[in-house]
Amino acid sequence: PPIDPLRISFSAAHGTMTPEGPLLTRRMSDVAGLFADEDARRRAADGDDPVVYTVAASPVPEAAGELPQSLTTILPGAVSGEFHMTKGHMHPDPQGEIYLGLSGRGGVLMYDGTRTEWIEMEPGMIGYIPPGWAHRSVNVGDEPYRFLAVYPGSAGHDYGWVVEHGMGRRVYRDGASYTLAPFSAA
Ligand code: F6R
Ligand code: ZN
Repeated sequence: PPIDPLRISFSAAHGTMTPEGPLLTRRMSDVAGLFADEDARRRAADGDDPVVYTVAASPVPEAAGELPQSLTTILPGAVSGEFHMTKGHMHPDPQGEIYLGLSGRGGVLMYDGTRTEWIEMEPGMIGYIPPGWAHRSVNVGDEPYRFLAVYPGSAGHDYGWVVEHGMGRRVYRDGASYTLAPFSAA
């Protein structure tokens, strides 16, 4: 059954949602194979194993008809120049999603298997992810990048698709800015 109406507060300064659902933390040791320089990733994981990103969620369940929300925080940093990012996934039930930028500087990399799109994100900006596009978020700044995601509860999350197909591009530090380079396998 659908859940009852909810009033949910979220913090652009802390990356929290209240009331809160499950909280996910992805450290360097959780993202094997994500960065092009796998040896450098492993060294960081064997070192102080920094947090790459966290995902806070509201209590709205991932169930058909519902609209779950989550708040992602990508910590600033890079692995051999490649900016911190989320694992990225495809929605196996092709349904769209919106991202609302809350703090910091980032972007959404999207890939449909042929075409790559990049949408720059900043506070107050909506990035729209159409059905059929895998999506990954990247922090290209030097402070935490945060965004709120709203997606259909029956969309699902397929991480294997991105492992198999890649994302078309990788995002590297380039002076004070960034550059999109052709995708290379890890
Ligand atoms: C949900 C969505 C986001 C991501 C989050 C973490 O459909 O796109 O809430 O789940 O940014 O990224 P992943 O799931 O790729 O680890
Ligand atoms: Zn998604």
